[in-house]
Amino acid sequence: MKRSFPISLALVGLLLVAAVLFFAWQRYGAINTGPTTSTGVAAIGGPFSLTDQTGKPVTDQTYKGKWLLVFFGFTYCPDVCPTALNQVAQVMDQLGPLADQVQPLFITVDPARDTPAVLAQYTAAFGPRIVGLTGTPEQIAAAAKAYRVYYAKVDQGSDYTMDHSAILYVMRPDGKYEAFFAADAKADDMTAKLKSWIEQG
Ligand code: NI
Repeated sequence: MKRSFPISLALVGLLLVAAVLFFAWQRYGAINTGPTTSTGVAAIGGPFSLTDQTGKPVTDQTYKGKWLLVFFGFTYCPDVCPTALNQVAQVMDQLGPLADQVQPLFITVDPARDTPAVLAQYTAAFGPRIVGLTGTPEQIAAAAKAYRVYYAKVDQGSDYTMDHSAILYVMRPDGKYEAFFAADAKADDMTAKLKSWIEQG
């Protein structure tokens, strides 16, 4: 016997899923299409408590007084994270002496695998200036929430990967949000913008 009821029920279910996804995207997602946005009042950033790649406990206060380039990712990331960190490394080179006022932070969303030792080896591959941060799952969740970063574990058979927003946040020396770059932003563009922001103070 054919029944049409389950089909409409399935449609309602699909609509519900779509609504939930849309909400999640609005709340946590990466709403970035251009290379950068201008300064806004968005409440991005805030206190965090993590561990750096040398095993030292750090907080947002540790880096106060510096411009921060904050990027969430994970060391097993096949593509987006290494590309973004390569660009960041180039930016740091291009900034010249101004680079002393800038601190790139790579915060893992995969603390189970990204121990301080793993992060130390990984960030070193992109040069000496990138700091890798990890923490307890709760600490990572709190930091990601502060930066409105979405991440989720995706099972792949016996292994897993991480889905995550790929945004490079620019934070001012006083800890306030300045702007963001998309993960595929070009180093030249980022350097030019950072230089103008740093020189304006
Ligand atoms: Ni990634």
